Amino acid sequence: MDKPVRRPSKARDARQSRTPFLEALKAYVASNPAPFDVPNHKMGGFDNEFLDYVGRQVYACDVNAPIGMDSLLRPRSVIKEAEALCAECFGADHCLFMVNGTTGGILTELVGVLHPKDKIILPRNVHKSIINGLILSGAVPIFVQPDIDPLTGIANGVPVEAYRQAVAENPDAKAIFVINPTYFGICSNLKEIAELAHSNGMLAIADEAHGTHLYFDHHLPLGALQAGFDLTACSMHKTGGSLTQSSLVLSKGKRVDWERVKNVFTMMTSTSPSPILMASIDAARKRMYFEGEALLERSKAMASRARSELVKIPGISVLDESYLTRDGRCALDPTRLVINVSGLGITGFDAYRELKRESNVQLELGEINCCLALFGIGSTDEQVARLIEGFRKLSAAHYGTRQPLRFPRFNPAFPDLVVRPRVAFNAPTKIVPLKEAAGEISAEAIMVYPPGIPFLIPGERVTADSIKELRFYVRHGGVVMSDTTPETIKVIDRSQWFMSSDLDYDF
Ligand SMILES: Cc1ncc(COP(=O)(O)O)c(C=O)c1O
Repeated sequence: MDKPVRRPSKARDARQSRTPFLEALKAYVASNPAPFDVPNHKMGGFDNEFLDYVGRQVYACDVNAPIGMDSLLRPRSVIKEAEALCAECFGADHCLFMVNGTTGGILTELVGVLHPKDKIILPRNVHKSIINGLILSGAVPIFVQPDIDPLTGIANGVPVEAYRQAVAENPDAKAIFVINPTYFGICSNLKEIAELAHSNGMLAIADEAHGTHLYFDHHLPLGALQAGFDLTACSMHKTGGSLTQSSLVLSKGKRVDWERVKNVFTMMTSTSPSPILMASIDAARKRMYFEGEALLERSKAMASRARSELVKIPGISVLDESYLTRDGRCALDPTRLVINVSGLGITGFDAYRELKRESNVQLELGEINCCLALFGIGSTDEQVARLIEGFRKLSAAHYGTRQPLRFPRFNPAFPDLVVRPRVAFNAPTKIVPLKEAAGEISAEAIMVYPPGIPFLIPGERVTADSIKELRFYVRHGGVVMSDTTPETIKVIDRSQWFMSSDLDYDF
């Protein structure tokens, strides 16, 4: 793997062994202050059921920017140092600690670099936060189609050629956006995409909600910044070992207006960020810097063992490197297993629920054909054994009892964008039954979880195909996230649309 090698440096190791924010938090709590500031639980000076359950120390650490603990929105001391160490650890120039997940990171990225009507080239299988970023920024999405596997139905990376074509058709686009890796662990050809963006005067931006760990192991696929990207948002909490909600925005090089990104960050972020989340980033960064490679080797070995056992189970198959046959599938994250259960005659949704119910095994997600199992730095051999046993039990219950399921092909076409997402979001709306919505313009994003692919975004024309597909997902246990109900949809009320003059209807 062509990855930048981190050269040994005693000075850097000495810096990285520090946890400035965590150290300040410990010192503040140990100083036993008389707290006449918020929060009013006063470092756990009372009792309730949650405190009894998690312990007083959690509350003692739950302080709100007292003297010595710096300010996340205007960092000058320990948070500034902790963010600088994090940037150094990831090979970035700048870092922001996020307390609203990579969702907050993506909003910060998009509003930070895009102005209204700027175009951004991005894959269709984006997370809901990107659609919200389009609404907030007022940008125009130019969607490119990811590679879609006809067998599993899962969406992969985007072939460089698709980006190239979109760039040729939209030479005025401001940025190219990539998901690295996808939820299913598939990576695109990041180096070529970064070169394509830069040689056309565009920014290269990434969603690395599932990619933090890629920065810590030479044998894993490239992290976006390592491939030359300008800006990324990483869920430190998903694969870097910090607490849920703690994420990072990282930038490298001079193409991004970092002052503007920081400005947007202050607009998006609470003035009361949780020190527990920030301290957990500080500690996780140090651990990953010194031990990430060893911890990830262990995770990979567990995943590999599980894969070789799972493929022996009748009706089960697991994606492996043989899947990497074309562009849009350039590398695979070996710490996540995409387990195909269609040979059992059940859906991935069924398997996801049954594994929890019958074997107390919690998977990351169930999809139409597949389930996703993640192996992390905290995984244990005992848990892996339970996963394998759970699938054996599942196979014993279902294999041979029904025909293997054959699902309709995922429809790779996406609907036409009639107006910008922000325009649709702000337009007068009405709610109509889904079955009568063909031809209307959606005023909401309709996502199905898992895996969180938008069927429709605000501004797109509703089609008979999208309605049919949505119903199929619902029937098979997918959770629909929308502003209304699974049987209705919010659309632009065109009878009112052009009558009111105070809204921006201009595409
Ligand atoms: C691809 C992708 N991007 C962004 C996010 C948002 O990340 P977070 O949960 O840290 O807000 C997710 C969450 O699952 C995701 O799967």
